[in-house]
Amino acid sequence: MVSVVSGRGLTKTYKRNAEQVHALRNVEVSLFPGELVALVGPSGSGKSTLLNVLCGWERADAGALIWGGPLAGRRADDLAWSELALIPQALGLLDDLTVGENVSLPSRLRGHRGALSEETEELMTSVGIAHLADRYPKQASLGEQQRCCVARALLLRPRIVLADEPTAHQDAHWTEVIFTAFRDLVRDGAVCLIATHNPETWQYADRILSMHDGELREGAPAALH
Ligand SMILES: Nc1ncnc2c1ncn2[C@@H]1O[C@H](COP(=O)(O)OP(=O)(O)OP(=O)(O)O)[C@@H](O)[C@H]1O
Ligand SMILES: [Mg+2]
Repeated sequence: MVSVVSGRGLTKTYKRNAEQVHALRNVEVSLFPGELVALVGPSGSGKSTLLNVLCGWERADAGALIWGGPLAGRRADDLAWSELALIPQALGLLDDLTVGENVSLPSRLRGHRGALSEETEELMTSVGIAHLADRYPKQASLGEQQRCCVARALLLRPRIVLADEPTAHQDAHWTEVIFTAFRDLVRDGAVCLIATHNPETWQYADRILSMHDGELREGAPAALH
């Protein structure tokens, strides 16, 4: 099967004065359509760096990203929200837009103006934030803000979702709702790569990748088996 995106020999080293942090060490990764992949590993092991490199937020020092299938020949930084959506660990909501405007941002960027579409309202209802549509993100709880990010990412049903701890601020109920929504997208042929610290979410994954000090391995960390 053709991968949607592959990383070959991805290497990223952060330099702080004399100190070097090897956030990615020669990482090989391929993501295929129709799979939900959990990315696990200790804090500081390089999970966010990998997601950020895959979405074009950060550039690897060495290695290459190869886009396949319908995205063949593309670059991470020219993909649209309908192709690749990121749920950043730090959320990345726009403070001056309401919750409704944040969720509908991908369709606003496509030129949609005016009232929220029915799809946007349905999606916001499904993640329990419809009643917050006219509030600003800072007037919502952290969990609600995170569900706003999830809804924004899912709005255009992208081919690729890169989610960085998307349930870090959620209770068990909303964790289940969010992972069920990812599975629904995956059933339609999307791929979701999800950094998660919560082993209870592994049940939703088709595959687990573990990060250890910048090295990526297939499978769950041995110590947690
Ligand atoms: N901009 C930066 N400058 C210097 N070092 C950085 C920078 N960003 C990340 N690092 C370091 O790179 C390593 C990997 O960080 P990364 O954020 O990818 O880890 P993570 O696995 O996502 O951790 P967490 O589970 O805490 O989110 C860490 O040692 C971190 O301190
Ligand atoms: Mg992280």
